[in-house]
Amino acid sequence: APNGHVPRPRFHFTPQRNWMNDPNGLVYDRGLWHLYFQYNPEGADWGNMSWGHATSPDLRHWTEHEVALRYRDGEQVFSGSIVATGAAAGAADSGAGHDSADGGTLLTAFYTSAYDDDHQAQSRATSRDGGYTWQPDPQNPVLDRGTSAFRDPKVVRVTDAAGATRYVMLTVEADDRQVLFYASPDLRTWEHVSTFGPLGATGVVWECPDLVPLAVDGDPDDIRWVLLLSTNPVGDDPNPDGSSMHYIVGSFDGVSFTPDVAELTRLDHGRDFYAGVTFDSAPDGEAIMLAWMSNWRYAGAFPSSPWRGAMSLPRRMSLRTVAGVVRLVQQPVGFVGELLAGAEASTFVGASQPADFTLSGHSLVELAWDPASTGALRLLLRGDADALVELSHEPSSNVLIVTRGGAAMEAVHPNFPSTSTVVLPGSGDQPLRLLVSLDGHLLEVFANDGEATVSNLVLLGAGPILATLITELPGPISATVVDVTVPDVAT
Ligand code: FRU
Repeated sequence: APNGHVPRPRFHFTPQRNWMNDPNGLVYDRGLWHLYFQYNPEGADWGNMSWGHATSPDLRHWTEHEVALRYRDGEQVFSGSIVATGAAAGAADSGAGHDSADGGTLLTAFYTSAYDDDHQAQSRATSRDGGYTWQPDPQNPVLDRGTSAFRDPKVVRVTDAAGATRYVMLTVEADDRQVLFYASPDLRTWEHVSTFGPLGATGVVWECPDLVPLAVDGDPDDIRWVLLLSTNPVGDDPNPDGSSMHYIVGSFDGVSFTPDVAELTRLDHGRDFYAGVTFDSAPDGEAIMLAWMSNWRYAGAFPSSPWRGAMSLPRRMSLRTVAGVVRLVQQPVGFVGELLAGAEASTFVGASQPADFTLSGHSLVELAWDPASTGALRLLLRGDADALVELSHEPSSNVLIVTRGGAAMEAVHPNFPSTSTVVLPGSGDQPLRLLVSLDGHLLEVFANDGEATVSNLVLLGAGPILATLITELPGPISATVVDVTVPDVAT
């Protein structure tokens, strides 16, 4: 039946088979991007949590490897992170020490041991073969408060004015909506140095924290620290949003995080962008994030097969002052721009007659237009399922709206059909740019070079996808379309 067909993405990571959720242990080491992920080696539902593993030379083409850290009787392996250091075990280094005396890198992973008796604590493992095999620390767990929702260790590097590095681990007490900060000189001994939160909405757990230094408008003398957080409602929540990511811009002195404004800002305005964290040791100190494209509300009901779970496009984060406010900006990494640069733009005049074009369904579409001459704009996407995706922009309110609906999407879960609304910064009569990435069941929209993003799972059926562009007035719209023909992974 066409409604049941979910094409496998071609330029996003999906596991060959079985269940996947959060990205874990993201690290760049000697030319390879390592992605570990919450994985059930045994089936397509959440359970037996382990770290799956994949690598990529370019963040586009991924090779899946053996499970790296496997669950065992009484203990699951929950989310966490990796840091790469020089081969001198535990020696603090700047992250530039990949070519230490014997040419090796030590990878140190921190993950949550989730014990069957409702107890969570942080454990450690090391790898000396580039991340393929791992030796758990005999002293695990290495950080234990005897509590039941203490999880998701993310280790970041903090370099002081004298150039000395120390490591800071962020973990959550998920039910308390707190981030606990620990500091270590050597990745072995940890001291609790501060606690952040609770704040913001109640009735949620806090998960998967990260802390990222970013330059405001590219100014190296104006570094802010951005706290990333994922929140998930507990119990019955009438709000259909479910899981979502947020950020807070602030400062960090190596001990405690001080927000500029004590409130959580939505990081992505779609329903399916969760547990996003950044790579350790990325070249040029860039902050590259991957997130799980799903929502705990219906993740287990999504009908892709034989895999269930996908990663977002890798996104480079930066801070940009827009209309006087410092905003987190997310742009897809290099290969997306390279694909678009190789394609030619066509010009549509959408008003009198809707413009139709066909997409493979593994496509990048870049639209540029001036609302002053086109008025409101709508882009409709249809496949062979009884379903519709609609993107629209309203100049009067400068609002971008992304809806997904129709019988095929309603059948997934009552909260699956959705309308995402985001007010774009600035006034609505300025020229606009929209990058729409549709890769199988993954839709990601980047507005104005990443000033706002909307990421959603969609079910449109099999390709080709018919795209229809409609504007209110006959102004021109420039459209660049790239269809990706080569699958990344065998299906
Ligand atoms: C976030 C999360 C983490 C946890 C993992 C378990 O999606 O709930 O807090 O470590 O998933 O799979």
